[in-house]
Amino acid sequence: MSLFKVILLTCVLSPMVTGHKSCSINAGLMKSIQYQLKLVEDNNGKCDCTGRVSEPGKVAFMAKNSDSLVNIPGKSAVVYNTVMTNLGNGYDKSTGIFTAPSNGVYNFSWTVVTHFGKYFFTYLALNGKLIARNYTGGRVGSEHISSTQKAVLEIKKGDKVFVKVQDDHIGQFMFGDSWSTFSGYKL
Ligand SMILES: *[C@@H]1O[C@H](CO)[C@@H](O)[C@H](O)[C@H]1NC(C)=O
Ligand SMILES: *[C@@H]1O[C@H](CO)[C@@H](O)[C@H](O)[C@H]1NC(C)=O
Repeated sequence: MSLFKVILLTCVLSPMVTGHKSCSINAGLMKSIQYQLKLVEDNNGKCDCTGRVSEPGKVAFMAKNSDSLVNIPGKSAVVYNTVMTNLGNGYDKSTGIFTAPSNGVYNFSWTVVTHFGKYFFTYLALNGKLIARNYTGGRVGSEHISSTQKAVLEIKKGDKVFVKVQDDHIGQFMFGDSWSTFSGYKL
């Protein structure tokens, strides 16, 4: 091979080699961007600017109440208005309703604390129908009464799960200030 040919070959090949290298760097970058985009999409386009990284597809929520609830009509949804955790954005703090973002088996639990002399009977409802309940009545005694109940449910995307006030009673009093909570997560 003549020196001329070697020089010519090097000139032709080297841009191809560097071109290939930068192409694979770009591919890696594209993959990373696509992954980040998917995270944002899974979060309904909302960025979590707290720096926490959530795994895509993970669903978990927890809410509590800042204010006590007084004389809530029977059959109403109990609105836990302060969101602590809401991966998957299923929980709506304005309605108290959790809407499943995907099919699966979920674990829910809730706690109600009432004042002695008062009651606040609730049940967990799936699409409005009773699933599980507990009794929060402090009509006798002198202590605040707390009740907790939980349920593992196989539900579909779009199903609605929330805590409801007992149909035939008003909810007289439920403590806010972080005493009463509602939470759930996908197993
Ligand atoms: C469901 O949640 C309750 C309350 O947090 C917990 O005690 C229970 O172990 C959980 N069950 C499952 C199957 O994760
Ligand atoms: C109701 O809640 C109380 C307090 O958490 C608990 O001790 C009791 O076992 C619950 N009752 C039922 C039926 O789950």
